[in-house]
Amino acid sequence: MVQIPVRSKIALTGGSDFWQSTAVAEAGLPRVILTDGPHGVRLQTGSTDHIGLAESEPATCFPPAVGLSSTWNRELAREVGRALGEEARSLKVGVLLGPGANIKRDPRCGRNFEYFSEDPYLTGELAAAYVEGVQSQGVGTSLKHFAANNQETDRMRRDSQVDERPLREIYLRGFSKVVRQAQPWTVMCSYNKLNGVQVSENRWLLTDVLRGEWGFEGLVVSDWGAVWDRTEALKAGLDLEMPAHAGHEAEVVTALEAGRIDEQTIDVAYQRIERVLRRAAETVADAPQGFDEQGHHELARRAAEQAIVLLSNDGALPLDPSTKVAVVGEFARTPRYQGAGSSRVNPTRLDNALDAINQIVGHEVPFAPGFTTAPGQVLEGDPVAEAVAVAREAELVLVFLGLGEEHESEGYDRQDIDLPAEQLELLDRVLEVNQQVVVVLSNGSSVAIPFAHRVRAVVEGWLLGQAGGPALADVLYGRVNPSGRLSETIPLQITDVPAYLNFPGDETGVRYGEGLFVGYRGYDALQREVAFPFGHGLSYTSFDYSEVAATAEGDQVVVEVSVTNTGERAGREVVQVYAAKLVSEVVRVPRELVGFEVVELEPGASQRVRVTVGQDELAFWSVLDQVWAVEPGEYRFEVGASSRDLRGNATVELAGTMPRRELTLMSTLNQAMAVPAFAEEGGPLVKQAFGGEEDGGPLGTDTLRMLGDIPLMALAGLAGRSAADFQQLLDRANQA
Ligand code: BGC
Repeated sequence: MVQIPVRSKIALTGGSDFWQSTAVAEAGLPRVILTDGPHGVRLQTGSTDHIGLAESEPATCFPPAVGLSSTWNRELAREVGRALGEEARSLKVGVLLGPGANIKRDPRCGRNFEYFSEDPYLTGELAAAYVEGVQSQGVGTSLKHFAANNQETDRMRRDSQVDERPLREIYLRGFSKVVRQAQPWTVMCSYNKLNGVQVSENRWLLTDVLRGEWGFEGLVVSDWGAVWDRTEALKAGLDLEMPAHAGHEAEVVTALEAGRIDEQTIDVAYQRIERVLRRAAETVADAPQGFDEQGHHELARRAAEQAIVLLSNDGALPLDPSTKVAVVGEFARTPRYQGAGSSRVNPTRLDNALDAINQIVGHEVPFAPGFTTAPGQVLEGDPVAEAVAVAREAELVLVFLGLGEEHESEGYDRQDIDLPAEQLELLDRVLEVNQQVVVVLSNGSSVAIPFAHRVRAVVEGWLLGQAGGPALADVLYGRVNPSGRLSETIPLQITDVPAYLNFPGDETGVRYGEGLFVGYRGYDALQREVAFPFGHGLSYTSFDYSEVAATAEGDQVVVEVSVTNTGERAGREVVQVYAAKLVSEVVRVPRELVGFEVVELEPGASQRVRVTVGQDELAFWSVLDQVWAVEPGEYRFEVGASSRDLRGNATVELAGTMPRRELTLMSTLNQAMAVPAFAEEGGPLVKQAFGGEEDGGPLGTDTLRMLGDIPLMALAGLAGRSAADFQQLLDRANQA
């Protein structure tokens, strides 16, 4: 075997330029390109930057995660991943920098468009499928931004202060699923601090949890510029700094000479990088040129069709092609189809909704832009008056509203969730002359929809990628039956968001004060009204749910329900299963998503749908025992069409996996009495000391209620006993 000089090994722990790793001549390892990601390949052709400014090679722009996640379609996410892998390969890209698995903690996060959901289960399921798809083509992925990077404000310095349970159960859970199920070749560490420690130097996160607990086998790469001290980062478990900071390599050499890092640590990082990048290099070495542009465009369209969420509809949709419509709003002609920043793709083609509508109806419909989407541009004439004029003559007006790139982007957060005032004003003016209005939205994260009850239908178009325009037209005209479901709650107003008061923090950090109560978990616990709940989405047909059943089978719970298409069109229904533990020793959310399945049914058709829930989905993180544990007892499984449209439920009794806890003198009387071996002798002892009624059991329930929370140590004192009396009982109970 060739001996690689340690200097070459250290060199490999930093990139050679903005997008490439360093070659190791002695090992025959060429440079490998790692580039964005996630919803298209952004291979820059000239100057380089990571904020999406410079030009890049044409590639298919698929719906960003905000759209892809609304499909709730694992197979589709896998298919999009495969296509991305093919494109990356043909462009000689070895690692595609995505998917982003951060939780949408607050709709103001400027980068929510790149993330899947406010829910870790949905995030994990779809991100894992995406990773499997990309990697099936021999191209690596980079699961990012690990972890607790849920805002853009001060993202390189801010300390995310998250308690253990929400950190484990909400913010890390999706990442863990992806790592265990799909083994991404790389994980990208985020910029921020986590509970006081810079993530790139966070050994607990990058080594103990990621590798130790989850079994991650790949390499950890930094977010671009996230390493302050490469020596400390390597010691914590980071492998590759991208791009390499001038001077960092020399610092590692000095640290090695001074004994501040050992050679073995460098060897480990070197081997991990070498293994992953060699696979990538082999793929690109014999990659075919070009990819199926047309086929991928069609796939992007199919994904967009399923991503569109019909929020409300009083029957105005689907439209008949003979209806005299007018179209208002620049987004119909100039689509907002992807987010701004490092993920920006140069699409192979871009189709808009206006052309597609014209094609469906067979002529050019009257159109008025109403506003401009070009920052700084001033339209000539009176755009609002022109819009009102076309609206007045129409039988129905399609109004395309949304957020421009200046409103939401990587790099900064929104201040509110409102649509631009000029667009709301435009809508008001249109409604003054014509009440037959359907609104179509384009936005990367939730916006307030105060006009929902004043218009006939609202179509949420998110960001749909390069083929979103025709997909929208197909939904409007019923060529496609909408089936997207919300992967994030749409609140009535920003002040309702559970994280509202704790976002985005200040220079002392951002406290995740809402704990477990993120998104629908919080709205439900607070019984807060929302505009449209998590999981919601209408169809042009209707589905009936009946006969819900749940049974424990080994380490799974199988939930079954019969679903019938009771309408007149074929349709796709996303059957959602939420679990709840109603009686618990620990804080619980009212319900959480633990499974979903998609069914496609012809009119009148019925299907028994089976949703398998792994018991690990029911586990909570026990802070006391430092393990995942399933509490024993009854679990309720609610089945429905959204988190607030629950059509039935069933309960299951589970033995659980709680670790046995030894009783100590600091255990409470309640805890001790729950152990029969203690209750038998301890009950009479306490009763004798404190008196109490005779109502069943060795100790009366009223007495127990009064004394139950007192630790045995204190109880002994109060009863005039010595602690040793109880200790003997405890020893016997612990041994029983
Ligand atoms: C982003 C990453 C991206 C990287 C490279 C960073 O600013 O946070 O998501 O992959 O740049 O462009």
